[in-house]
Amino acid sequence: MALLLAFIIVAVISGILASIQEIRNYIRVRWKLRHFPVIKGVPFFGNALPFLGRKQEDYLLILQEITKHVSKPAKVQLGPKVFVVISTPEDVKTLTMSTGTLNKMDVYRFFRCPTGLATAPGPIWKTHRRLLTPSFNTQTLQTFLPIFNDKAKILIANLEKVVEHSDRDFLKYIFYCTLEMICETTFGYNIDVQNGKNLDYFESVETLAHVIGSRFFKFWYYLDAIYQRTKEYAVEKMYFDIAYRMSNRMIEEKKQEYLTEMSNGSHGKSQILINKLLKFHFDGDFTQQEVKDEVDTMIAAGHDTSAVTLSLTLLMLAIHQDIQEKVLEEIISVSPAPDASMTFEDALKLTYLEMVIKETMRLFPLLPLSGRHCTEDTKFSNGVIPKGTDLILFTYQLHRRREVWGPRVDEFYPEHFSPENVSKRHPYSYVPFGGGLRNCIGNKYAFLSMKTILSIVLKNFRVTADGLTMADLKPSMITTMNVKQTERMRIERRKLAGNV
Ligand code: HEM
Repeated sequence: MALLLAFIIVAVISGILASIQEIRNYIRVRWKLRHFPVIKGVPFFGNALPFLGRKQEDYLLILQEITKHVSKPAKVQLGPKVFVVISTPEDVKTLTMSTGTLNKMDVYRFFRCPTGLATAPGPIWKTHRRLLTPSFNTQTLQTFLPIFNDKAKILIANLEKVVEHSDRDFLKYIFYCTLEMICETTFGYNIDVQNGKNLDYFESVETLAHVIGSRFFKFWYYLDAIYQRTKEYAVEKMYFDIAYRMSNRMIEEKKQEYLTEMSNGSHGKSQILINKLLKFHFDGDFTQQEVKDEVDTMIAAGHDTSAVTLSLTLLMLAIHQDIQEKVLEEIISVSPAPDASMTFEDALKLTYLEMVIKETMRLFPLLPLSGRHCTEDTKFSNGVIPKGTDLILFTYQLHRRREVWGPRVDEFYPEHFSPENVSKRHPYSYVPFGGGLRNCIGNKYAFLSMKTILSIVLKNFRVTADGLTMADLKPSMITTMNVKQTERMRIERRKLAGNV
């Protein structure tokens, strides 16, 4: 009893001290930022009024509207919350290259992956990044091509089944395909969703992204004590349980295989990421939790990202039929057979397709905004941002700056990425993969897999968009970029020489 009482007293005192510390930090940051440029708002609410009563799907464009005239870092105040928004090339460089801004914003804890590469704090991230980078080098990527090709061919077979009554559902097969690719290339595990297996896992990963994304925009849900009493939390818990069951099963299976391989003295698959993680684990460099967090991170970061970008690239091609024809011409000139497998050399030759994908990611970056937390005072172009400040990298705004991109900024214009035009721009004008120290570890992987999928899909199907124009598109953000109008896309069979 005395022990319990002591425990309660210690817990209460720690809680009070932590709260006092948080309040002191909050006041210190507000005070230090008091002269920092601010986007004009109203007392108490700050810039929150335009958001009130609006749906989450409107938030991205509202934020763009209220920050569009700002050409330097500036404070945005949403009630008591203060952020500094960064969306100019030189300041994006500072943000992504400084050691004082390596940490992610507190909300990343909602992903429940504290030691995963995408969310881990600076010191853990540094070790993991150094150990995992070789798993994504060009040599390793080339060994993934047979898997990319096999999975893309299953995708074509699935699209064949739905083409006659083509509805929006055809896009889901792309998500299945990229999920299979990431599970097999990094974990040597055939999740087989393209054949209808493990769909509950797929659904749980997708739903979690939505539930967590909604929590970002509800500040009162930031307090775990409140959130854990909501129905959203109950839903989240249910889906996390399903997702964790699957990743634990995958890890256990791979662990047994790894131990058998080790006892046989064969290290054939050692380049596969899971085998490296297990080696780090058995060498004492990674805990069980760290292995699991990296598995969950790679699956989440490695499939939805490419699938969303692929859907949006198809949408651009559906709206711009002339560009679709030009892309197809290039693909056929490199590899004419409709069922040909992609080779690494062929992928390198698809330069116009690459420009098309890049232009899609300019207009619709996967992460329209992302959050960092300042752990050291850091000097930006218009002043020092103090330790403790939350920063928003507003990529969507950066990619649509007229002074950076010129008069065709709002158009889909792949020539923005001709070598000549690229050389004229600031290198940090374009950061669809995050840029700087914490850039995406999978960017080359993403290009290779996306080129494989797009080549075979476009050789076999034409995408159309039912009279849709660029003006009809309304981008929004859930956790990642979302353009609802992808629903209006359709596919029809394309007849090339060699098609049956
Ligand atoms: C078109 C596809 C992709 C896009 C647009 C994309 C975009 C991004 C962005 C913007 C970030 C930075 C996130 C932040 O700062 O909060 C990031 C980080 C990351 N991405 Fe990707 N990604 C893609 C594909 C992939 C793939 C295929 C993988 C795995 C194979 C992957 C794994 C990761 C990881 C692990 C991180 C965290 C890196 C770190 O902090 O060191 N991504 N990605």
